[in-house]
Amino acid sequence: PEKMAGTSHIPAEEMEELREAFSKVDVDGNGHISTDELNQLFKEANLPLPGYRVREIVQELSRTMDLNQDGKITFDEFVVRDLKSSEVAKTFRKAINKKEGIYSVAGTSEQSGTQHSYSEEEKVAFVNWINKALEKDPDCQHVVPMDPSSNDLFTAVGDGLVLCKMINLSVPDTIDERTINKKKLTPFTIQENLNLALNSASAIGCHVVNIGAEDLKEGRQHLVLGLLWQVIKIGLFADIEISRNEALIALLRDGESLEDLVKLSPEELLLRWANYHLEEAGCSKINNFSSDIKINNFSSDIKDSKAYYNILNQVAPKGDEEGIPAIPIDISGIREKDDLKRAECMLVQADRLGCRQFVTATDVVRGNPKLNLAYVANLFNKYPALKKPENQDIDWSSIEGETREERTFRNWMNSLGVNPRVNHLYVDLADALVIFQLYEKIKVPVDWDRVNKPPYPKLGSNMKKLENCNYAVELGKKEAKFSLVGIAGQDLNEGNRKLTLALLWQLMRRYTLNILEDLGDGQKVIDDTIVIWVNDALTQAGKGTISGFKDGSISSSMPVLDLIDAIQPGSIRYDLLKAEDLTDEEKLNNAKYAISMARKIGARVYALPEDLVEVKPKMVMTVFACLMARGMRRI
Ligand SMILES: *[C@@H]1O[C@H](CO)[C@@H](O)[C@H](O)[C@H]1NC(C)=O
Ligand SMILES: *[C@@H]1O[C@H](CO)[C@@H](O)[C@H](O)[C@H]1NC(C)=O
Ligand SMILES: *[C@@H]1O[C@H](CO)[C@@H](O)[C@H](O)[C@H]1NC(C)=O
Repeated sequence: PEKMAGTSHIPAEEMEELREAFSKVDVDGNGHISTDELNQLFKEANLPLPGYRVREIVQELSRTMDLNQDGKITFDEFVVRDLKSSEVAKTFRKAINKKEGIYSVAGTSEQSGTQHSYSEEEKVAFVNWINKALEKDPDCQHVVPMDPSSNDLFTAVGDGLVLCKMINLSVPDTIDERTINKKKLTPFTIQENLNLALNSASAIGCHVVNIGAEDLKEGRQHLVLGLLWQVIKIGLFADIEISRNEALIALLRDGESLEDLVKLSPEELLLRWANYHLEEAGCSKINNFSSDIKINNFSSDIKDSKAYYNILNQVAPKGDEEGIPAIPIDISGIREKDDLKRAECMLVQADRLGCRQFVTATDVVRGNPKLNLAYVANLFNKYPALKKPENQDIDWSSIEGETREERTFRNWMNSLGVNPRVNHLYVDLADALVIFQLYEKIKVPVDWDRVNKPPYPKLGSNMKKLENCNYAVELGKKEAKFSLVGIAGQDLNEGNRKLTLALLWQLMRRYTLNILEDLGDGQKVIDDTIVIWVNDALTQAGKGTISGFKDGSISSSMPVLDLIDAIQPGSIRYDLLKAEDLTDEEKLNNAKYAISMARKIGARVYALPEDLVEVKPKMVMTVFACLMARGMRRI
C-alpha cells in the first residue's frame, strides 16, 4: 500500500538531517530550492550518472516535492515527501552528501548495503563533550579521554559504560549505579550493559527503534552518533523550559501571554534568548559595535560570529554579583576581516567563559545547525543572564511543570519516533498528527487523505487542527474500540488534560498488549492474563505472588525484583536490598534498582521508580507487561 504522505512519519532525527540537507541545496539561502539549484547540486556532486538520468531525477524531485507547482520547493514541501524510500530520493541524498564531502561509510546493518554517512565534525564535537563530562568518572578511565581525531569513540561505546553514564548525566538518576557491570566484562555482561543503555535511552525519550546492541558493539558510526546526539540534546535542553527556569519569562514580548511562551520548543526559546541579548546589546551604551542584529537560525545567520560576539559580551559576568568575578570579553576580534579568523577570535573569548564547546571556527563559518545549536544551548545553561521580571501580572498556573505521568507518555511517544517531537504534551498534540502516528503503531489504519497536514493556512488553521482531532476521536471509537465516553475532538485540540491523558493511556496500554499478543501468536491478552503469567513465573521460582496491580506489596518492589530473578535466575543481588519494614527512602532505593534491572535484562520499561513506590496501577501494569514480554521472548 502507498505509504502515508505526511511529514508525520519522518523521525525527528531525520527531520534535522533534512533541515541540514535543505540548507545545503538552497545555496542562495532564499528559503526555497529552484530547479537550477538542483541541477547545480548534481553537477557539483559529480555522481557517476548519465546526464539524461540527472535531468530525470531533477524532474522527478521537482514533480514530487513542489506540491503547488510554483517552480519553488520550500522546506515544508521538501519534508512532506517520503524522501527515504524512493530510489530518486536516495540518489538525491547521495548527491547532497557527496557535495559536502561528508564521510560515507558502507552500512553494515542493512542487508541492502546502503550508504550511510556521518559527519566528522559531529564526532569531534561529541568526543570533546564526552571527554569533559566523564573526565573524572572512575568507571570510564579505560576509555576517556578519547582522541577526537581518531575513531576511538566507536570502540569506546562498545561496552555500554560511556552510554549509561551520558544518559544518566542528561537525566540524572535514570540508571542505578548498582546495575552497571563494570569489571571483568564478558560478552554476556556487555550485552546487559548495552540493553540497559538502550532501554534507558528509550525511557528518556530517545528514538531507538532502529538501533540494537549489535550496532553499538560493532560501533556503527552513524547509529552511534545519532544516539549520542539525542542523549546529549536531551541533557542540553532539560532546563530550557519555563517550568524549570522561571527567568525565561524575561523573554516575553509585548502583547504576548505566558501561554504563548510556554508553547515554544527549546530551539525556539533559544532563538528568543539569543535575540533578547542581541536587542539588549543594541540598547547598551557601553558598546557600540552592534548594529541591529537579529538572527532567525543558528546556521547562516551566525556565520560571521558577530551575533555570537554580542551575546558573549552580554552574558559574561560583569562582576556585579557577589563572589562572581567579572570576565570582560575582548571584542576587538570582531573587526577581523576574515570570517574564519573572526570565528576563532570569538571562540577564544568563549573559552574564557568555559563555553568553547561543540563548534570549531569552521563549524561556525559553515553554519552547522546542529553543532551551533548545541553551542548556544550550552552557553545558555552556563550563563543565562536573565532576571525573572518582578511585579508583573503573571498567571503562574499555565506554567505548571509536567507530571510524572505526562512525562512518561511523552517519552514513550518520542521513543517511538513520532514527528514532530513532542516537547509539550498538550500543545504538541493539538493537531492530532502525533496521535495518528500512534494509531498506526497499534495497527489502527489511518486514512491520511482525511488528515490535514502542515503548513496550515494562516486563517482557519485551528479549524484544520480541530478536524484532525475529530477524526482522531472517531478512529479511537470506531476502529480502536477505545472507551472515549465524553471525549470530543475539541478536548484534544484545547489540550484538556484529563481527557487527553485518558486517550493516551489507552494508546499506550494497547501498544503494550499488542506486543504480548504478537509474542503469544495473537492470543488475546487482558490484565488478568498478565497477572496469571506473573504469578505462574513467581510460583515456579518459589517466590510469593501478587493479587493484582494494586497489591500493596509492590510498593517495596520485591514482587518486581522476584519476577526479574525468576526470568533471569541469579540476576538480583538481594544482599543490596531490604525486603521488609521499609522506609520511603528504602522503597525508592529498591524501586530504582528494580527499574534499572528490568531494563538490563531487556525489558523496555518506561515507568519510573516512584510509580512502583506509590503503586500506580497503570504504570505497574506496564512494568509487569514488559517483563512478561521479556520472559516470553526467552522461550
Ligand atoms: C536563516 O535566516 C536568514 C534570515 O535571517 C535566512 O536568509 C536564511 O535563509 C536562513 N538560513 C537557513 C539555513 O534557514
Ligand atoms: C546517576 O545519577 C544519580 C544522580 O545524579 C547518581 O546518584 C547515580 O550514581 C548515577 N548513576 C550512574 C550509573 O552514574
Ligand atoms: C564606538 O564608536 C566610537 C566612535 O564611532 C569608536 O571610536 C569606538 O571605537 C567604538 N567602540 C567600539 C567598542 O567599537
